Amino acid sequence: MGILSRIGIALDSDLLKRFDRSIARRGYTNRSEAFRDLIRDRLVGEQTALPDATVVGTVTLIYDHNVPDLPSKLMDLQHEQHEMVVSTSHAHLDHDSCLEVLIVHGKSARVEQFADRLIGMKGVQHGRLVMTVPAKTLAHSHSGNLSHSHKH
Ligand code: NI
Repeated sequence: MGILSRIGIALDSDLLKRFDRSIARRGYTNRSEAFRDLIRDRLVGEQTALPDATVVGTVTLIYDHNVPDLPSKLMDLQHEQHEMVVSTSHAHLDHDSCLEVLIVHGKSARVEQFADRLIGMKGVQHGRLVMTVPAKTLAHSHSGNLSHSHKH
């Protein structure tokens, strides 16, 4: 952690009460930590939205393995984009339903496109991409990646 700065924030007291209830439900014992997490979430969101940013993430898929050709199409696409796939985990939820989770990495725009292709496949019932970056890479993004965001 870098040098600690203290800040004061003026907040509507109703808003603060609601915030305190919300963080208590989430198990925070410390308001400062809740604020830090909110700020990091915002910064991670901005970072992963940059097409050239290097990100890690997960793609979660629910599908019916009886849909003709679907399992092999999903597998083919993952092999085609193997540089982006770190690992996969598969669970047979019931007789028909499969849950697959891929750990992915690469440039944000390419990861998103890959996830969209997987999720958009006919027979995939639900899918979700979550992209993130380690917090320490946020510290290095102030000039480099942000300035690249507008050149495409
Ligand atoms: Ni299965």
